[in-house]
Formats: sequence, structure tokens, C-alpha cells
Amino acid sequence: MNVQTLEGTARELVAPGQGILAADESMGTIGKRFEAVGIETGEESRRAYREMLFTTEGIGEFLSGVILFEETLNQEASDGRPLPQVLLDHGIIPGIKVDKSTVSMPLSPDEKFTQGLDGLGERLPEYREMGARFTKWRAVITIGDGIPSRGCIEANARSLALYAAFCQDHDLVPIVEPEVLIDGDHSIEQCYEATEWTLHATFQALYEQNVEFSGMLLKPNMVISGKEAERQAGVEEVARATVECLRRCVPAAVPGIVFLSGGQSTTQATAHLNAMNSMYDGLPWELSFSYARALQEPPMEIWKGQTGNVEEAQKAFYHRLKMNGAARSGSYSE
Ligand code: 13P
Repeated sequence: MNVQTLEGTARELVAPGQGILAADESMGTIGKRFEAVGIETGEESRRAYREMLFTTEGIGEFLSGVILFEETLNQEASDGRPLPQVLLDHGIIPGIKVDKSTVSMPLSPDEKFTQGLDGLGERLPEYREMGARFTKWRAVITIGDGIPSRGCIEANARSLALYAAFCQDHDLVPIVEPEVLIDGDHSIEQCYEATEWTLHATFQALYEQNVEFSGMLLKPNMVISGKEAERQAGVEEVARATVECLRRCVPAAVPGIVFLSGGQSTTQATAHLNAMNSMYDGLPWELSFSYARALQEPPMEIWKGQTGNVEEAQKAFYHRLKMNGAARSGSYSE
């Protein structure tokens, strides 16, 4: 493990004014999102869609990194450049999602367990060779009747920690993503409790696996009301609950926290990040974004798989990036 390399990459990924685009949806997930807006799914439409995003002029100003799905590493833009090269030409660091998605937790079917540790140590050098400098692994925690369970939280924390250790062993910066889902009618207080527990367990496991905190990034959910909750916490309340929770759980050596958008609306995700950065000064870590839906919903809806819509779609994508870039310094307004 080269701590200097890892720390350098981690810091680049949370450089001021910039954030990360998560464009690593699995074939199933992007298929569902395409279907919802009437785009035909298939290898070519996934390629064309990602080419549309990545060839947007000027995105290097607001994007430090893009997380790719394995398939995209091998795809090319229409001008023959490999898609990771298109990103490098903008000065953007390519990363890759390395987990193999979730299954139902055995004997607790309402919970999820993330797979992908088998063979990970062999896959990582190949990803490096193809230009990746960082990775992502997502664990999912569900709030519901009697859950999350200790078994689920600890199994996922252990897997996240092993994943992170494998990556650092290959000088790839791990983005550690334990996502407490927004789905359900739970309160913001219940979300706080589940997030606090999950983060404590995750950092304990990371410590036990010898993971170097200065060479990783955390990608958590915000502390927020459940999507179906009667009372929806306001922007400042979400910002405060999130930062207070993180303060109690995340070591100061971690260079940055890059939030997921997790089903928040596009403008909500930006407003929450903006509020945290404007309300708090002198936090030990950078607070940034690693959004998928909150950056992609507008361009995907406009694009619809039509070449003629590319320019408009790119405009919408650029706008969301610019807004979130502003939220990095608390200076966002639509
Ligand atoms: P969302 O921002 O859509 O939650 O996606 C982030 C992500 O990478 C999930 O793994």
C-alpha cells in the first residue's frame, strides 16, 4: 500500500468546487431507469447515453471523478476514444464499482447483503491497468419492522472493510458506501439512529482490517425523513442532523465525505449539500457529492435515446453539475 498515492487521489477527488458522478448503474438498474423514460435498453443505448454525458463540454470544471460500471471501461465514444479516455481528457479520474450487487440477507429476507469479495484481489489489478484509480462498493441497510438487525449491519460492515483493504493493497482508493435507504415511513430520528449504528460498525470494521483512513472516502446517505413519512424534515434540519451524526462517527483522518442522493429530488440533494457547507465551517472533512440520480435525471429524461436531443440533455447535465459545484462552497442558488 502506498499511502501517499492513496491520499493524493482521495484529496483530488474532493478538490474544492468539484464532486463525483456515479454512472455505475448495473445493467438491471439502468434498464429500469431507461424504461421509466421510454428509452430502449441494450449495450448500444447504454454506451450512447454515457457518451452523451461524458462528452459534455466543460464538465471537468465540476467533476473530479466518475464511477463506471465494468462494461463502460471497455466501451468507446463515436470518435474511437475509449470512454475512460474521454474522462481523462477532461482531467476527470475514472473509478469503478467493484461489488457484485445485493442479495436478500439469508434468514432475514427484508434486508440486503452485498456480494463480490470472491476474486476481488485478482480483478483489481486489471481495473488499474484499464485506468481506474478508485473504486466503489455499496452496502444497503433497510429501516423497517425490527430491522436493521445486528447481523445485517455487521456482515455488511465487515464486507465493506475487507473490500477497502483489498483496494488499498492495490493502491486504489476505496469509496466505502453504506447506504441507509430512504424507503419507508420512518422518522428522521430513526434514520439518525440507523445511520449512527451503521457508521460506527463500519469504522470499527475498517479499523480492524487495517484500512488507512486518510486514503479512503466515505459515501453515506444523508440523515433524512423516510420517503413516506408524514413529517418531512426541512433543509436545515437535515443538514444539522447529518453533520451531527457524521461528527460522532467519522474519524477526522478521512479526507472527504461524498454523499449519495438516494432518491431525493435533484434540487433537494443540492440544497442539502449546500446547507451543510454554508452552516458549518472548519469541519475535518470535505463535504461533497457522488450523485447518480440527482445528476442524471434531467439529462436522461431529455435525451430519450435521440441524437437530436443530445445538446439539450448536455445543457441540463452541465447545469446540475454547476449547481452542485456551487453547493460545495455553500453558494448555490438555482
Ligand atoms: P444515487 O445518487 O442515485 O443514490 O446513486 C448513488 C450511487 O452510486 C448508489 O450506489
